[in-house]
Amino acid sequence: MSVSWSLPFEEKISPHGIQKLVSEDAYKEFHNKTVNSYRNFWANVALELEWFKPWEKVLDETNPPFYRWFVGGELNASYLCLDRHVKTWRKNKIALIWEGEPMKDGKPVEVKRLTYYDLYREVNRVAYLFKKRYNLKRGDTVGIYLPMIPELPIVMLAAARLGVVFSVVFSGFSADALAERMNDADAKLLITADGVWRRGKILDLKSIADEALKKTNKISKVLVIRRAGNQVNLQQGRDELFDDVINEIPYNATVEPESVRSEDPLYILYTSGTTGKPKGQVHDVGGYMTLLHATMKWIFDIRDTDVYWCTADIGWVTGHSYVVFGPLMEGATGIMYEGALDFPQPDRWSSIIERYGVNIFYTSPTAIRGWMKNGEEWVKKHDTSTVRLMHSVGEPINPEAWRWLFRLVGRESVPFGSTWWMTETGGILISHTPGLLMVPMKPGTNGFPIPGVKAEVVDENGNAQKEGQRGYLIIRNPWPGMPLTIHKDPQKFVQVYFSKFSGAFYTGDYAVRDKDGYFWVLGRADEVIKVAGHRLGTYELESALIQHRAVAEAAVVGVPDEVKGEVPVAFVILRQGFKPGEELRKELREWVRGKVGPVASLKDVLFVSKLPKTRSAKIMRRVVQAVAVGKPVGDVTTLEDEASVEEVKRAYSQLQEELKG
Ligand code: WT7
Repeated sequence: MSVSWSLPFEEKISPHGIQKLVSEDAYKEFHNKTVNSYRNFWANVALELEWFKPWEKVLDETNPPFYRWFVGGELNASYLCLDRHVKTWRKNKIALIWEGEPMKDGKPVEVKRLTYYDLYREVNRVAYLFKKRYNLKRGDTVGIYLPMIPELPIVMLAAARLGVVFSVVFSGFSADALAERMNDADAKLLITADGVWRRGKILDLKSIADEALKKTNKISKVLVIRRAGNQVNLQQGRDELFDDVINEIPYNATVEPESVRSEDPLYILYTSGTTGKPKGQVHDVGGYMTLLHATMKWIFDIRDTDVYWCTADIGWVTGHSYVVFGPLMEGATGIMYEGALDFPQPDRWSSIIERYGVNIFYTSPTAIRGWMKNGEEWVKKHDTSTVRLMHSVGEPINPEAWRWLFRLVGRESVPFGSTWWMTETGGILISHTPGLLMVPMKPGTNGFPIPGVKAEVVDENGNAQKEGQRGYLIIRNPWPGMPLTIHKDPQKFVQVYFSKFSGAFYTGDYAVRDKDGYFWVLGRADEVIKVAGHRLGTYELESALIQHRAVAEAAVVGVPDEVKGEVPVAFVILRQGFKPGEELRKELREWVRGKVGPVASLKDVLFVSKLPKTRSAKIMRRVVQAVAVGKPVGDVTTLEDEASVEEVKRAYSQLQEELKG
């Protein structure tokens, strides 16, 4: 197989897809222009949305890093996603195709197709319910703990319609994680479901929510959506079944969309950081929607004839931006799938592509590596030739995984990129932009910063790193879609993102630029690990561990995994009176899953009597990690703060000895 990375795209995919294949230099020249006048540049993009009130100032920079975009402007995200289309021929276009997990005789048991008008109706009814029955007002917060069912985007849009801030918690998080987030967000109402289908079994969500509700006194009402039909306990005066209350709302109830300010919060989404509790990223309306509009066009080249599928769960930011708000704002037809991508058979995902004729496919390296392991015959069982554009997200994509999907689904001809961004950025910031200008592909690269965004790879002092040398990824200029703040912790917002390299946004990622100027994000430079693309703070896993009665101290590090990219391994010092053993190892793994959620599955628990520490009693994480991975200590690239080479070496061999013994 010979593959050329500079394909003549214009010939191959026209009229759909690439508008122009350009050289790196031509892209850089164009990009420079957009960056030099980024305020005007973004203002022109924002003009393509529909504003109830025009802005007075494109960017308020009076209180950095608390930048505010399109100040004075007013709009509504639910209006942009629904009302705007309902006024056009798109009214009867399918907005969402939903497929439930259960299958029978090789067919999905439940498929729902919702047009823009259907969605508009449902969102209006729910907004009416929120307003009339729960008395929710602009600025209030609702919590959402729902699986991938159509009601999830519906309640998000209903909240947005009223200017009510929503905070979605991924349905794979535990009761503790849910309670912590709801407390921080001050949610008044929680919307959850009875259960969800996951790999043929029902996961009882309501019981988890009940556990969480014991640990929060802020939520006074709970709305329960029926999905799995399992038994639920309803607490009198607090819990209500969605079906019961929504049935009382007339089918044609409407609620005017609130004219909210551009810089008002749309949602809070929690994400893990280096230390401390998960941080609530607060996203605005105007900037966020502007970035989504731009990226849907430039990166996904979205068109009215497309069926678009982003496989992410809405519980994560990818789902917020690229399952809900982005595609709906563009009037696209999107797929939403409830369950596991390889259930009941490894070809579930490719069968979905075939069933609906997916044209644009957005997925993750972890998913691709899982499919690779199952063998390509599963892909070949289905016709996936409708796909004309693909992207990956969540973690670096290894060239093998990239090549595999490029060959089997991409027919070695479609644009296929790896879009870099994070919960904080709101939308994609580094990517190939096949809908605008396309530079040749390279397997595994992220491509270039999108127009208007100035990203750099710098050394410890903030100076541009030499090409081919690893450095820190930073964003120099404010961009629409950036967080307003960390909820209830503006100081932390400054400290975590804007103090390491004064004035610039620090991503927490390592990256490198190659000789052609392409960006390659290598992975996290901090104590965050990406497990199957999910972001976990090792600190959170450690605090879960030390809550167990047997554990005195714990250090969690990530080790490479063939499918998941990285998995956590714990080093544990036991309290007096506890004996290491298989039983306890199992118990601790279960314990952490219970505390944080099934996303946090420790691959292994290693019992040790001592952990290497620096003089100020900080755990030498890189040493622990090197031992866990079996790397020689010489490869511990950055020395631990305050520790000498000798100390690091000694710590390394001590820990290694202990594991052998
Ligand atoms: C971290 C952010 C926002 C998308 C979902 C993840 C890593 C994300 C890529 C990519 C290399 C990537 C980074 C980043 N990451 N996309 N295409 N190539 N790394 O959002 O959970 O906030 O995680 O994911 O390390 O910092 P998130």
